[in-house]
Amino acid sequence: MDSDYEYFKRKILKKSGVDLNAYKTRQMQRRITTLSEKLGCKSLKEYYRLLERDRKRYEDFLEYITINFSEFFRDPERFKELEEKIFPEILRKTPNPRIWSAGCATGEEAYSLAIILYEKSPQSLNRILATDIDKGALKKARTGLYDENHIRNVGKERLRKYFLKIGENYEICDEIKKRVKFNEIDLLKDDFPQGFFHLIVCRNVIIYLENSAKEMLMDKFGLALRRGGFFFCGGTERLFNLDRMGFKCVGTCLYKKI
Ligand SMILES: C[S@@+](CC[C@H](N)C(=O)[O-])C[C@H]1O[C@@H](n2cnc3c(N)ncnc32)[C@H](O)[C@@H]1O
Repeated sequence: MDSDYEYFKRKILKKSGVDLNAYKTRQMQRRITTLSEKLGCKSLKEYYRLLERDRKRYEDFLEYITINFSEFFRDPERFKELEEKIFPEILRKTPNPRIWSAGCATGEEAYSLAIILYEKSPQSLNRILATDIDKGALKKARTGLYDENHIRNVGKERLRKYFLKIGENYEICDEIKKRVKFNEIDLLKDDFPQGFFHLIVCRNVIIYLENSAKEMLMDKFGLALRRGGFFFCGGTERLFNLDRMGFKCVGTCLYKKI
């Protein structure tokens, strides 16, 4: 194991509370080394010293390692299945479902869920909970302003109804904005309420995690769901050990707690 990287991980854990051990080593180490080399650092020790004295670089680093690309209705086919198959089932049980977008990045996923919920149950009282570890991403999410790359899967009708064109950008309208509540949560460290959610959406997050962190997180999600609740993961993510979590697969990327 590279001792330069070990040193860096230890220092970052102490400084920020982010445990880089939980993320896939090769991928994370490559990203960090590339970034440090771009800044002219000859080692990760030197890079860490730079982060210690330069607040802006430190914030850039945190933003960079969290990889927070997102877009509205990411994987449209999967969202369609969620909308047509899962939402009606949830809404048959309650008009006020508790929905969580975990690892929401800049908010596109949570707003997509809010649009679906608004269309299917406009009187719904609960706000969608949307959480991330990255403060910068949450700030952008609360602003709700997106360029066209992020809205390419939004149909014309929805674009007209729910977005305001501001110059080259699109702002999500207040009717949808007020239906989402953003909070900072570290999925690996913080506790979740138990037996609480009707739907947990955690997409393109576990893909970056080492197996042990992924298993631990999936156990926590399993406990946070109500019986009969659903879990929606990313297009390239698959869950194993379904029995242990008490899940069954009910669609592509869709699982139900039985
Ligand atoms: C690629 S984005 C996924 C965004 C959205 N879910 C989607 O699929 O479009 C991954 C997000 O996971 C967040 N993340 C990574 N580790 C986390 C942790 N330990 N706790 C909370 N969020 C985390 C990152 O900050 C980032 O915003």
